[in-house]
Amino acid sequence: MYKLMNGVEIPSIAFGTWKISDENICRKSVRYALECGYRHIDAAKIYNNEVFVGKGIAEFLERTPNVKREDLFITTKVWNSDQGYEETLKAFEDSLTRLNLDYIDLYLIHWPNTKNMKTTFETWRALEKLYKDKRVRAIGVCNFEKHHLEELEKNSTITPMVNQIEIHPYNQQDELRAYCESKNIIVESWSPLIQGNINDPVLVEIGKIHGKSPAQVILRWHIQNWLLPLPKSITPSRIKENRELDFVLSKEEMEKIKLLNRNERLGSHPDEMEYGFENLR
Ligand SMILES: NC(=O)c1ccc[n+]([C@@H]2O[C@H](COP(=O)([O-])OP(=O)(O)OC[C@H]3O[C@@H](n4cnc5c(N)ncnc54)[C@H](OP(=O)(O)O)[C@@H]3O)[C@@H](O)[C@H]2O)c1
Repeated sequence: MYKLMNGVEIPSIAFGTWKISDENICRKSVRYALECGYRHIDAAKIYNNEVFVGKGIAEFLERTPNVKREDLFITTKVWNSDQGYEETLKAFEDSLTRLNLDYIDLYLIHWPNTKNMKTTFETWRALEKLYKDKRVRAIGVCNFEKHHLEELEKNSTITPMVNQIEIHPYNQQDELRAYCESKNIIVESWSPLIQGNINDPVLVEIGKIHGKSPAQVILRWHIQNWLLPLPKSITPSRIKENRELDFVLSKEEMEKIKLLNRNERLGSHPDEMEYGFENLR
């Protein structure tokens, strides 16, 4: 567990749900992840599967009476085309309905609207209202560079509790991480497993020493850097494996992984993100 700046506890690994578009696969994967012990699910409106995620959660809770909704930590995000104050409040209610929940643990802005930050400030104002009204337990952002965080600081009253950004061994983002740490912002790693491209010889080699897979080595690297990874899988054996992280990487092994960085992004640079903002500029 990590602790957010407002004192709320957040499980240190989450199950990612992007690209799980089939209803049955999504429902079953979410349920299985919860059965394996994940207590944190990362969802988003744009993944078009909040209904299926909600069904997976409901099925798990029905079958597992000793676990309550309050034991789970559910994140979702406001999509780019819904940015704006009223639009965000509506998008929030719609996500809640689709997920079939009566509150969200963490609500995030999915991307900053770099070319028109005013809409993003308005979106944040809506998140602040949801937080003050206790509809969400925490609020945060995704894909904010340092300059976005600085601009937001000047135009808001609450600091984001989380920044969810692309981090993996090939894109380590040391400077942004250090800035977030200095502001007490928890950093979550998206595409933590390099979208499955995990067979780097360095990672395989370290895995062999510990009797662990390269995926497990990468996830340990995130955790030992105080990052919060969101591994996604629809394969039961991998879902389970990705939580079995009861080993420790040595200082030398951490250093070897540090050297793999090549500032290589799999997704868009936040300053170049256009998708979804077409009508807001
Ligand atoms: N905020 C944002 O802008 C943003 C952007 C991107 C992603 N995200 C979040 O971050 C989550 C994770 O990112 P991601 O889905 O892009 O990629 P990822 O978690 O880095 O990688 C997922 C891929 O790795 C494979 N995989 C998972 N566990 C494995 C293992 N143990 N061994 C070998 N392969 C394994 C999966 O295959 P199978 O599924 O076939 O098993 C899948 O192809 C997303 O699902 C989403 O929740 C957020």
